[in-house]
Amino acid sequence: PKKAAVGPLVGAVVQGTNSTRFLVFNSKTADLLGCHQVELTQEFPKEGWVEQDPKEILQSVYECIERTCEKLDKLNIDISNIKAIGVSNQRETTVIWDKLTGEPLYNAVVWLDLRTQSTVENLRKKIPENNNFVKSKTGLPLSTYFSAVKLRWILDNVRKVQKAVEEGRALFGTIDSWLIWSLTGGVYGGVHCTDVTNASRTMLFNIHSLEWDKELCDFFEIPMDILPNVWSSSEIYGLMKAGTLEGVPISGCLGDQSAALVGQMCFQEGQAKNTYGTGCFLLCNTGHKCVFSEHGLLTTVAYQLGRDKPACYALEGSVAIAGAVIRWLRDNIGIINTSEEIEVLARDVGTSYGCYFVPAFSGLYAPYWEPTARGIICGLTQFINKSHIAFAALESVCFQTREILDAMNHDCGIPLRHLQVDGKMTNNKVLMQLQADILHIPVIKPPMPETTALGAAMAAGAAEGVGVWSLKPEDLSVVIMERFEPQIKATECEIRYSTWKKAVMKSMGWVT
Ligand code: G3P
Repeated sequence: PKKAAVGPLVGAVVQGTNSTRFLVFNSKTADLLGCHQVELTQEFPKEGWVEQDPKEILQSVYECIERTCEKLDKLNIDISNIKAIGVSNQRETTVIWDKLTGEPLYNAVVWLDLRTQSTVENLRKKIPENNNFVKSKTGLPLSTYFSAVKLRWILDNVRKVQKAVEEGRALFGTIDSWLIWSLTGGVYGGVHCTDVTNASRTMLFNIHSLEWDKELCDFFEIPMDILPNVWSSSEIYGLMKAGTLEGVPISGCLGDQSAALVGQMCFQEGQAKNTYGTGCFLLCNTGHKCVFSEHGLLTTVAYQLGRDKPACYALEGSVAIAGAVIRWLRDNIGIINTSEEIEVLARDVGTSYGCYFVPAFSGLYAPYWEPTARGIICGLTQFINKSHIAFAALESVCFQTREILDAMNHDCGIPLRHLQVDGKMTNNKVLMQLQADILHIPVIKPPMPETTALGAAMAAGAAEGVGVWSLKPEDLSVVIMERFEPQIKATECEIRYSTWKKAVMKSMGWVT
C-alpha cells in the first residue's frame, strides 16, 4: 500500500531513570505519530546505592527505535521521512567505559545514589572557609547529586577504572554521552560529546565560560582527557551507525529537564515549568543571566540552541522523589499493581486523614539539601488504610513542589501566577487538583504531556544542516491547555502545609 504522505519527521530518545522511550513527531504540526517505551531495571546493591546497567540502557534505546519504526510502518508512515534524532536524558548519572572495547567499566551510578556522602564531606573540608568557588562557577551546591563526586568515588574505588584511566582507555560521560558515542559508532569512531545542559550538571563545568574548568577538575582530581567535548544543544553531533535509522543525524541533545522547558515553549525570561518524573523539577528561565539563589535552588544552563547562539540559564528546584514514590508503593510495598491504581485509591478517600509521607529516600534535595534525611510516614492511627497512604504519597509530591515554588518566588521577586506542568504523572487528575489546591494557583497542562520528547525533537529538527523545525515564535503552534483551579480555602491549605513541614523536620538527621 501507498505510504501516507506526511512532512519531515523528527525522532526523540527520552532516556529517563525509570524508562526509555522513542517518540516520533511531525515537524510541521508537532503531532506525535508513534512511540514505544521500555521500563528499566534499577539496582540497589546497598542501602542508599542506586545503579543501572549502561548496556541495558543502550539496548532499550535500540529496542524503542526499532519498535516505534515498526508501529509507524504499520500506520503506513514512511520512516525515511525521519530527518533527525534528538536525545534527552536523565542528568548527572555517571558512566565510565573503555573506548577500545566499548564495554562499561562499572555500572552507571545514578543521580539518586547516596554512596558519596563521605566523599562530599571530605571534599567540603578541602574548601577554605567563606570560599564559594564551586557554587559560583557551577551554580550547584556540593552534594551527592552531581557527577563529579560520583566520578571521584569510582576513581577511588574501582581498580578496573583506575587501570583504564592510566592506560588512556577510559571515557567518562553522562547518559547522553554514552548513548551518542555508542549510537554514532562506538569503537568504530563514536563521537565523544555532551551538550552544555548536561555538562552543567557534572560540577566540572564553568557555566559562565561554558567550558570544562581546570580549577574544578584539579579540585575533584579528575583527569580532563576522559571528559567529552562540549557542544551546543542543537547541532549535528554525528550519524546513527546501525539499525533502521542508520545514517540519520543525531542533532539535538538536552538534559531531560531542559528539554521539557523547551518543549513547554518557555523561551521567555520568567516562564517556568514543573516536570513530574522519577523526581520533580521546576525550572524557571532567567534569560541570558545566571541568577544565584538564596533559597536552595540551583543555577543551571537551560539550553543553547545552536553553536553561535547564546546560552540561556534557569533557576531550578530539584525534588529527588516524585514518581519514584509510586514505583516504591508498587514494587516494594505492593499496595498497588500498576502506577495508575494510585489515582483510584486516592480518589476513594479524598484525604490522607492526617497521615503525612515524606519520601526522603535519597535525603532531601531542594530547598534543604539534607543528605541525613530518610523517608517517614507519620500521623498513623488504626483508622489509616492503604488508600490514605496512597493519598499522602500524592500529597507529598505536591507539598515538595510547593516548597520549591515558594523558594522560586522569593528568589525571583515576582510570584508565579500559574504553574505549567508536564510528565506522565500529570495524567493523574487527583494529583493535578491537589497540586492546584496546595499551591493555591492554577495548574495548567498541555494536552500532550510528552514535552521532554518534544523539546529534544525541536532542538534536533532546528539544527543547522537539518532545518526542518522552525523555532520562530510565530511558527510555534498555540497549545490549548487544561486548567486546574484551586478549590480549597487558602487557610485549609496553609494548615496542611505547615503540618507537612513538621513532618519534614522529623525526617531529618535520621542517619549521620
Ligand atoms: O536530575 C535528574 C533528572 O534529570 C531525572 O529525570 O525524568 O528520570 O525524573 P527523571
